[in-house]
Amino acid sequence: MVAIANLALALSAFVKTLATPVFEVSEAASNDLPDFEVGAANLARRQDYTQNYRTGGNVNFQSTTNGYSVTFSGAQDFVVGRGWRTGSSRTISYSGTTTASSGTVLLSIYGWSTNPLVEYYIQEYSNNNGAAQGSKLGSFESDGSTYDIWKHQQVNQPSIRGTTTFWQYISVRRDMRPNNGTITTANHFKAWADKGMKLGAMNYQVLATEGWGNAGGSSKNTISAS
Ligand SMILES: *[C@@H]1O[C@H](CO)[C@@H](O)[C@H](O)[C@H]1NC(C)=O
Repeated sequence: MVAIANLALALSAFVKTLATPVFEVSEAASNDLPDFEVGAANLARRQDYTQNYRTGGNVNFQSTTNGYSVTFSGAQDFVVGRGWRTGSSRTISYSGTTTASSGTVLLSIYGWSTNPLVEYYIQEYSNNNGAAQGSKLGSFESDGSTYDIWKHQQVNQPSIRGTTTFWQYISVRRDMRPNNGTITTANHFKAWADKGMKLGAMNYQVLATEGWGNAGGSSKNTISAS
């Protein structure tokens, strides 16, 4: 899918900046003070992930204290979001509103692992097919809905390790949640592993709003994790 390829290209542009010292990038990229993820067992720095990638149209993105806000119209490929520099099996909650008036819009937990190199999505909402592509391998229940599992190979596509061939693991929630939800990522990682879809060392992990194809709409979320 061209849109996904372009999305990956967008992300590879972002990842190149990650190759430089992370906190330099984080602080330069955000006007916010550092945020912290507060949990019973940890106090970890929240990644200040700020991206305003676009290939056309209007995409107005803002990082906020505990999340982000974006409005868009006539937009070609873009991805914006907020999360953590290092992914984990954290449980992630979000609250806000995502709307779509045209094009394709999706809201997902989005991340990467290395060894093996994997790009993954836990899609909570899309007005169209969104991230789903490749082979449907099954389904499972989590957080009040059925999710369908997809696996798709990207061949010679940009990635966080340059242009290469890698898998995408995709969970697509049937009972879509454009407004709020809690995602037990551990359930997805286990369901994928049960299908032989193993992750490696965790790279970044975010809640992301993506759009392409003359996308119009808005997305505003606060994010927390445990
Ligand atoms: C969460 O979303 C549901 C469905 O749109 C809505 O009814 C509910 O009010 C929302 N809850 C909060 C706390 O925003």
